[in-house]
Amino acid sequence: MLLKGRTAVITGAASPRGLGLATARLFAEHGAKVAVLDLDTEMAREAARSLKGRGHFGMKCDVVKMRDCEKAVERALKRFGQIDILVNNAGVTSPKRVMEIDKTEYDRVLDINLRGTFQMCQAAIPHMRERKTGSIVNLSSVSAQRGGGVFGGSHYTASKAGVLGLTKAIARELAPDNIRANAICPSFIDTDILGSMRTDEIIERIVSAVPMGRAGTAGEVAGCALFLASDLSSYVTGSEIDVNGGSHIH
Ligand SMILES: NC(=O)c1ccc[n+]([C@@H]2O[C@H](COP(=O)([O-])OP(=O)(O)OC[C@H]3O[C@@H](n4cnc5c(N)ncnc54)[C@H](O)[C@@H]3O)[C@@H](O)[C@H]2O)c1
Repeated sequence: MLLKGRTAVITGAASPRGLGLATARLFAEHGAKVAVLDLDTEMAREAARSLKGRGHFGMKCDVVKMRDCEKAVERALKRFGQIDILVNNAGVTSPKRVMEIDKTEYDRVLDINLRGTFQMCQAAIPHMRERKTGSIVNLSSVSAQRGGGVFGGSHYTASKAGVLGLTKAIARELAPDNIRANAICPSFIDTDILGSMRTDEIIERIVSAVPMGRAGTAGEVAGCALFLASDLSSYVTGSEIDVNGGSHIH
């Protein structure tokens, strides 16, 4: 039980095969109470109900809307009394070539992936500062480290590189307040993020470039999030942890 007595807020955590819900499950198994946030109220509630133990809750939170982020933090504080862990997992991908990305698509991807992460941090940091403790875990991507080449376009890569820079900057700024911030950089994990774009051909192409010869699982990313959320990583901050089957070794 690595998170007994701890509480966590996880964005984008209602997707049944997603990294957020896998992380929520593992955190709950380790004794944490979890706030499951996502775009759909009923899906978020259902995901929270499926977690082990009591006291979890689900609610709608569109991370693009600052007021939603603030409301989620307020609700978590009311229910839990404290927030120990924030996992910024909500994200979208978009496999477009650079000249196909119009303003709307650029804004959509940057707003959800980068602005959403920033806003959730801004909503949670005052409380974490007050208590002089907190762990923030942000989902970046191997695309940010190696210049795309997996699935998302350059705007996706830019958003995830932004998440990496943001993570390192807040880690430095918040370290005196005993708040840690780290990023996870997964390569291809077989979730529903590709939606209708998921074909056997695409999976085969992506996996053929992975030295371990397979896609990662959501549980394997959750394990890394658990390490970063728990005291096992108490002297780890500003780091980027690779979960990529060897597809980017640096
Ligand atoms: N799956 C991969 O291969 C992979 C690789 C690298 C990074 N990532 C990152 O991991 C994170 C989780 O990805 P996943 O594969 O579980 O995807 P997923 O599509 O299964 O889950 C993403 C969740 O985010 C939610 N979401 C989308 N927009 C939102 C918004 N505005 N506000 C709140 N929630 C919103 C969706 O409803 C969904 O539940 C994403 O940030 C993604 O970019 C995934």
